[in-house]
Amino acid sequence: MPELRRVLSDRLRAAFDTLEPGADPVLRGSDRADFQANGALALAKRLGRRPGDVAEQVVATARLGDICSAVWVSGPGFVNLTLADRFVAEQVRAMAADERLGVALAVEPLTVVVDYSAPNVAKEMHVGHLRSTVIGDALVRMLEAVGHRVVRENHVGDWGTPFGMLIEHLVDLDSTGAGPQASIGDLDVFYRQARVSFEADQGFRERSRRRVVLLQSGDPATLALWRSLVDQSMAHFDEVYAKLGVLLDDGDVVGESFYDPMLDQVVADLQALGLLRDSDGARCVFPPGFTNRDGAPLPLIVQKSDGGYGYAATDLAAIRDRVDRLGAQRILYVVGAPQAQHLQMCFAVAQMAGWLPSSVKVEHVAFGSVLGPDRKMFRSRSGDSVKLVDLLDDAVRRAAAAMAQRDGDLDDAERASVATALGVGAIKYADLSTERTRDYVFDWDRMLAFEGDTGPYLQYAHARIRSIFRRGELAPPAPGTVPHLDHPAERALAMALLGFAGAVDDAVDGAAPHRLCGYLYDLAATFTTFYETCPVLRADDGVREGRLVLCDLTARVLAHGLALLGIQAPDRM
Ligand code: ARG
Repeated sequence: MPELRRVLSDRLRAAFDTLEPGADPVLRGSDRADFQANGALALAKRLGRRPGDVAEQVVATARLGDICSAVWVSGPGFVNLTLADRFVAEQVRAMAADERLGVALAVEPLTVVVDYSAPNVAKEMHVGHLRSTVIGDALVRMLEAVGHRVVRENHVGDWGTPFGMLIEHLVDLDSTGAGPQASIGDLDVFYRQARVSFEADQGFRERSRRRVVLLQSGDPATLALWRSLVDQSMAHFDEVYAKLGVLLDDGDVVGESFYDPMLDQVVADLQALGLLRDSDGARCVFPPGFTNRDGAPLPLIVQKSDGGYGYAATDLAAIRDRVDRLGAQRILYVVGAPQAQHLQMCFAVAQMAGWLPSSVKVEHVAFGSVLGPDRKMFRSRSGDSVKLVDLLDDAVRRAAAAMAQRDGDLDDAERASVATALGVGAIKYADLSTERTRDYVFDWDRMLAFEGDTGPYLQYAHARIRSIFRRGELAPPAPGTVPHLDHPAERALAMALLGFAGAVDDAVDGAAPHRLCGYLYDLAATFTTFYETCPVLRADDGVREGRLVLCDLTARVLAHGLALLGIQAPDRM
């Protein structure tokens, strides 16, 4: 089923074409009609004609009789369009009969690599990784839903100089003979203690440096210690992923270590291309257009003066690997905003080297910070970064407490699973519904509220509709049932439902889950108005079926939309 806006747009385009081939109708939503086409204004300017005349000509030319009940010009040259109820009803019927709920498959399916989550070994995941994980998960689900081939890549920080220090610390702890797994214990404590030794002890520093060399040269004993650090950390990440209910698994890990064998070649090729410059002993590329505050060219350091490779070299190797081996046509980096310059410089250098053809679209899907109530970086009461495991457990506990205050008839097992869905859903929705480049304040009360633009509100809206069918002991409406559209609230709900496919497209195009969130919230609000004004179970026969179609479709869209965001929609709450 073609998306509603596309149908209208195509018809209008044909009319605009007669005035100027390729002119854009500029179709928008409108308060006074269903849609408004504003393209006549810009077109009139180009043609040197009066906008009103151009708009009138569009109205006269466009073939809209079968889908619109009214088309008229207002203001300086806006074309207002009201869809015919018959057409709206037909579209709703088609949508209800469609398992995909009208969401079209991409005309040109792409291989899309999504780089997300990317926590660091021997460190606890913090809220920055929460954002990357949750946003990345939603993008993966949405991209797959519109038919793209998605390759999930978890670019775990599992390599580099800090591992000398971490491995030496493990060796020290392990002298007790407890075995490496038992010795690591709490990752944050482990990391902090390693740093303390590194800062305080000259001998430890020296050992750490030698250990990096051993690691780089593939010494088996060193690699075994490194492995145990990685495994222990992965077990921790997996625990967080399981609690979050994201799609990532161990098979998606393509950590920094994976690219290590490719780094010599990266440098050699950059050298052969004449792109490397020496800067204080380091080997760098200076991509044009990147300067520091004083206007001096900025280097992307590919190899440090001590010969070691850094973060940038790895990212260059990753781009090559994604383009060459994976055949990526679009690459999304779901990484915090502070890394914007690093990524842009990597993209620029990869382009200069010819590793990133212009046909491949790379995007930094940047996101802002999570702030505490004091609007500073979100931290625990003790001032440490907040452990995600604790945060998620806390969310579920709080959701269970909120449920206890509402009456319900769930058994214990169901209560527990609903509390998990609510708590985790609240965190995810609060994150996804904020325009991602903005910072947001982490506020338990707000995100767990059953009213307002929250996960629980949408989950509750869905469960409430399901309960209409339960209470009435009704089966879902028979396929092909015509929706009832006489009341303005019914029609408004139908129009909102028909916007689903467009909302998914918008969210995919802009890598912007908040657009889907905003749509679902509006849909739930529109449903509430409908339900307050149009009785369903008490309605006359005939009318009731037509209203149940709208109810059922709303519940399906809410559940499907939430699923695309990685949020569960329980049937009962
Ligand atoms: N591990 C990094 C961090 O914690 C994020 C990596 C992002 N991905 C990338 N290809 N650079 O900041």
